[in-house]
Amino acid sequence: IDELLAEGVDGKRVFVRADLNVPLADGVITDDGRIRAVLPTVKALAEAGAKVVVASHLGRPKGAPDPAFSLLPAAERLGELLGAPVAFAQDTVGPAAHDAVDGLQPGQVAVIENLRFNPGETSKDDTERGEFADALAALADVYVGDGFGAVHRKHASVYDLPARLPHYAGYLIATEVGVLKKLTEDVKRPYVVALGGAKVSDKLAVIDELLGKADRLLIGGGMAYTFLKAQGHEIGKSLLQEDQIPAVREYLERAEKTGVELVLPVDTLVAPDFPDLKTKAPANPTAVAADAIPADQEGLDIGPETRKLYASKLADAATVFWNGPMGVFEHPDFAEGTRAVAQALVDSDGFTVVGGGDSAAAVRTLGFDESAFGHISTGGGASLEYLEGKTLPGLAALED
Ligand code: 3PG
Repeated sequence: IDELLAEGVDGKRVFVRADLNVPLADGVITDDGRIRAVLPTVKALAEAGAKVVVASHLGRPKGAPDPAFSLLPAAERLGELLGAPVAFAQDTVGPAAHDAVDGLQPGQVAVIENLRFNPGETSKDDTERGEFADALAALADVYVGDGFGAVHRKHASVYDLPARLPHYAGYLIATEVGVLKKLTEDVKRPYVVALGGAKVSDKLAVIDELLGKADRLLIGGGMAYTFLKAQGHEIGKSLLQEDQIPAVREYLERAEKTGVELVLPVDTLVAPDFPDLKTKAPANPTAVAADAIPADQEGLDIGPETRKLYASKLADAATVFWNGPMGVFEHPDFAEGTRAVAQALVDSDGFTVVGGGDSAAAVRTLGFDESAFGHISTGGGASLEYLEGKTLPGLAALED
């Protein structure tokens, strides 16, 4: 983007593909981290006199307009953060979008509606995606890719559109890639990775890759129970992905052989039922050993002994990557595991990276100071796929 700014953007229409896919509760944004993350790019372009057209997806609507997934709240928040009015178009490539862009003066910003309201955005068919990309290209003279959270998606606005316009990477993408390179090229050791989240299936590829790269792997969250089951323990009503057990067994064996320390919870917080996240009514959890989960109980967070264990395993790390909450942190009774891991990163002298929507949101909702971490990535799936060593469509499209 510095190259673009040096060439000059005054009066040019610059399309910024951002990731404004923020969590919403009843239409209210609960974490605006992704909007703040794209501000440097939008501000720099606006200050240089560009007519800035910001676009993003939000959630997973089914290729048609759906008010529940409108980008309007994100557009309003962007305006507040910029301290300037932001025009909002109620369609993506229709008359409203063209009117909004035509009405821009140099230095002004417009947001178009959720890109996924058009089936062409996510289509697997190259022609359909290409047609939508052509329509988007008509709105701009230049493309800036800055939606790091979506670069792993081969979508029209991420992959096909940059091929149709002069294209540049924004500040956010440049920062994110710079940080992830530190984890993949010549990483400082010990390199400790904490992985949580609900599903082990989402993390299989990254575990596979990390078994050859990391020194220590700490497993928490819902996916830990599939590991415990694979070790032969009963897990009661806890989350289980039975079909993943063979893969998990293979990883447990491979970790032994390669000398990677794969650490599982030694205790867990259980309750009879999944807690009510709306009322946050007390769930009265009890801590039990990880190999003694009662049949009528569900594991919902790592236990106090595991919190201490994981903190000690993180204490000497020179590099830490953490993705995925350790428990159901949205409920106060099950937030302590996630808090303990976040605190261990804060206390670490190493370079710490928080990857992913949920863990990044957890850090902020639990009240941690973002500056206490080396880097908080805006990309969940994107940062994992980068670490898996995959070619990411949205980065490949910007490379030339
Ligand atoms: C994310 O939240 O990880 C990104 O915004 C991508 O969203 P998606 O998984 O719906 O493509």
